[in-house]
Amino acid sequence: MATAAWLGHSAWLVEGKSAIVLIDPFLDENPMAPCKARDIARADIVLVSHDHFDHLGDAPAISKRTGAMLVGTFELATAVASEHGIKSEGMNIGGSLTIGGVTVHMTPAFHTSGRGQAAGWVVEIDGVRIYHSGDTSLFSDMKLIGDMFRPDLACLPIGDRFTMGPAAAARAVDLIRPRIVAPMHYNTWPPIAQDPEKFRALVGSAAEVAILKPGEKLEVKPRA
Ligand code: NI
Ligand code: MN
Repeated sequence: MATAAWLGHSAWLVEGKSAIVLIDPFLDENPMAPCKARDIARADIVLVSHDHFDHLGDAPAISKRTGAMLVGTFELATAVASEHGIKSEGMNIGGSLTIGGVTVHMTPAFHTSGRGQAAGWVVEIDGVRIYHSGDTSLFSDMKLIGDMFRPDLACLPIGDRFTMGPAAAARAVDLIRPRIVAPMHYNTWPPIAQDPEKFRALVGSAAEVAILKPGEKLEVKPRA
């Protein structure tokens, strides 16, 4: 079992017995964040989906202070490691990497990125699998991600404009077939204002929809 706490926007703190994994920790400049970067006392792995400020965020500072391994696309991880003098592992879309008891798979995402390319993640930790799509449009290969990894939890953007909106994200749920889906990347700023209840209605009975408040945690149990 693992717990997944939503820290607002696309930032998640996934905690298992084996490790603490942070995903896209955009905190200090995030008006929705329930904490600041300095409040993250411990992290083992920091995953960065792509090189946009609202995803790279405080990842370098947190890695530097906690000693966490920063993981991203090869180009991004290499550049950030040399700029900030931190530990990093570069990888690329389609690849997997195991650090301690955690295995991460880098998945495709249709989006742009400063350095490297935009990506998503499947995180395997303590017997559960969490798919964090990063910023992306809907794409039909989400079905393959669902077939291969059978995610227990999917974290999907619903903000529209820069990513999927509620209707496309609901179609993504049909392709991925997670047990639980949590919307993210909405209501941070006016251009991505959305009503998550609209997303819940569109998903219907396809998955359990967990609409979290920033700072709220979800227990993710392995499939029976
Ligand atoms: Ni982006
Ligand atoms: Mn974004």
